Amino acid sequence: MVVLGIESSCDETAASIVCDGRKLLSNVVASSMDLHAKYGGVVPEIAARSHIEAIVPVIQQALDDAQMTWDDIDAIAVTNGAGLNGSLLIGVLAARTLAIVKKKPLYAINHVEAHLYANFITESTLPDIEPRTTTPEFPLLGIIISGGHSQLVLFRNHFDYTLLGQTRDDAIGEAFDKVAKILGFPYPGGINVSKKALEGNPLAYQLPKARMAGKYDFSFSGIKTATLRLGQELVGKDYSLPSFELPGLLNDKQKADIAASFQRTACEIIVDKVLLACDEFSPRCAIIGGGVAANHELRRQLAERLSCPIEYPSLKLCGDNGAMVATLGCYKVMLGAEPADPHTLETAPNLSM
Ligand code: KG4
Ligand code: ZN
Repeated sequence: MVVLGIESSCDETAASIVCDGRKLLSNVVASSMDLHAKYGGVVPEIAARSHIEAIVPVIQQALDDAQMTWDDIDAIAVTNGAGLNGSLLIGVLAARTLAIVKKKPLYAINHVEAHLYANFITESTLPDIEPRTTTPEFPLLGIIISGGHSQLVLFRNHFDYTLLGQTRDDAIGEAFDKVAKILGFPYPGGINVSKKALEGNPLAYQLPKARMAGKYDFSFSGIKTATLRLGQELVGKDYSLPSFELPGLLNDKQKADIAASFQRTACEIIVDKVLLACDEFSPRCAIIGGGVAANHELRRQLAERLSCPIEYPSLKLCGDNGAMVATLGCYKVMLGAEPADPHTLETAPNLSM
């Protein structure tokens, strides 16, 4: 079972070929991140235009890298939500067209669910991607933490899941990106906050954790604002100081301590709820997906506090990629899920789990 996966929900145009839901044969990612950096965040219009330029060469490269032709492809899987509509449209229209022209079944993929399926890749022909060695076992707790999502999902089996909770405002990656902006680090900020945090004291400052009505819900907007207020206070100013002036007034040590304290608290917010869910549901393992899965402090806290096994994807498969889409696509085919109609499949920007 060979599936081509296509991903274009945000600023990465990606395509990948996966065999039998476990063997990675190619993984091509073209990012327009550099074009967004000077604006401090993804500009949807620029992302969509970049997808138009990249989509055909990226798909062809995925076939070439796997040394395959269209005859070898059994099905096409494409992210149709959640994401930016202009971005999703390009991947979905490309996949619909190819499904019709090449006469392949088409499978619609939920981007958030797909992030977790990067953990099911256990073989790789690619030298730069070391796969996991074990396949996650059900029931499992899915932890999806990215720029757009913070969700805890209990999976009893493939496609049989319950959303336990999610963020009520910002996603954790978004909070990392906003704190990066407050500290004057370039976009994408998460990795820069986490690098700076290595130099700082994670206990230097106490930042708030929101109390939520939903047991497994999150909130990250309060901690982001509290971080801004902390910075303003440290330089002797009040809330009226424009945030773009703050990086020029904070010294290096203050920035490192703020980054480390924010990172510790943001990760604790996730890990506290993961522990609650593990106590209540006793999953056989916890699997992580999304860009923030790359964060070293999160990994440290989970390893220290969680008793069940924790599965991470290869670092290269933490962010957006086509491999996770192709892997979930393989399971859809193998388990007899209904294919989508290539003439009518629509984007679903607000798709939830
Ligand atoms: O999954 P992803 O590539 O795209 C979305 O679906 O959102 O995640 C990107 C997010 C960004 O917010 C980025 O800042 C964050 O993941 N991120 C990190 C790290 N690496 C990426 N956040 C914290 N620490 C990191 N090492
Ligand atoms: Zn993502």
